[in-house]
Amino acid sequence: MKSITVGITGASGALYGAQMLHHLDNCSEVERINLVISNAGRRVLTEELDIAANVRDEDLASNLLGSPSEKVRHFPVSDIGAKLASGSYPVDGMVIIPCSMGTMASIANGVTRDLVHRAADVTLKENRTLVIVPRETPLNAIHLENMLKLSRIGVRVVPAMPSFYHRPQTILDLVDHIVFRVMDQFGLPHSKKTVWMGSASKAN
Ligand SMILES: Cc1cc2nc3c(=O)[nH]c(=O)nc-3n(C[C@H](O)[C@H](O)[C@H](O)COP(=O)(O)O)c2cc1C
Repeated sequence: MKSITVGITGASGALYGAQMLHHLDNCSEVERINLVISNAGRRVLTEELDIAANVRDEDLASNLLGSPSEKVRHFPVSDIGAKLASGSYPVDGMVIIPCSMGTMASIANGVTRDLVHRAADVTLKENRTLVIVPRETPLNAIHLENMLKLSRIGVRVVPAMPSFYHRPQTILDLVDHIVFRVMDQFGLPHSKKTVWMGSASKAN
C-alpha cells in the first residue's frame, strides 16, 4: 500500500492534476494521497476547471474528485511546518502534475519557497521517487537545462505530451494517457487501455 504526494502547480493542465487524484483515489494499492496546491495552481483551477476562488482549502479535494475521499489529505501550500516538509514522514513518492517552469526551476536549484518545493526537495534528499509533469511550449534553454539537471539526478520527467496511437476519442483519453504513464513510474496498476500492444508491420 502506497502513500503518494500530489502537487498541483500553476501550469496549464489542471485537468491532469484532477485525473491524477481520481485514478490514485480509485487505485487499490494507494492508501494515502497528500495533496498540496500552489497559489498559482489554485488560480489555474479556477481558470480551467471553474473551481470557485472562494472554495475552502479543505474542500478542494472533494471539488476536484466530485465527492469526498477518505484517502486524500490536503496540506496548505504555505504550511512549511506540515508533515510533508520532513523526511521523517513516511511517503513513497511525489508527483507534480502539472508542473510549472517556475516550480521546476525551484526544485532544480534547491530553492524551497513553499510546501510544493519543500516536499519535492525532501523527496529527493530521501531518495524517493519524484515525478514531474512539466507543461510549457515552446521551451527555452533554461527550461531544458532544468529538465536535464533533474533527469540526471533521477527525477522521472513525464512531459504533458499525450500520444495518439491509442486513438483517443475525448480529452480525458488524452489526459489519462499521461496520468497512466505517471502511475507506471510508481509501479501502480491502471486500466492499461492506453498501452501500445504492437501491430503487424504492413511491410510483412
Ligand atoms: C491560466 C494560466 C496558465 C498558465 N500556464 C502555464 C504553463 O503552462 N506553464 C508554466 O510554466 N506556467 C504557466 N503559467 C504561469 C505560472 O502560473 C506562473 O509562472 C506561476 O508563478 C507558477 O507558480 P507555481 O510554480 O508556484 O505554481 C500559467 C498561469 C496562468 C494564470
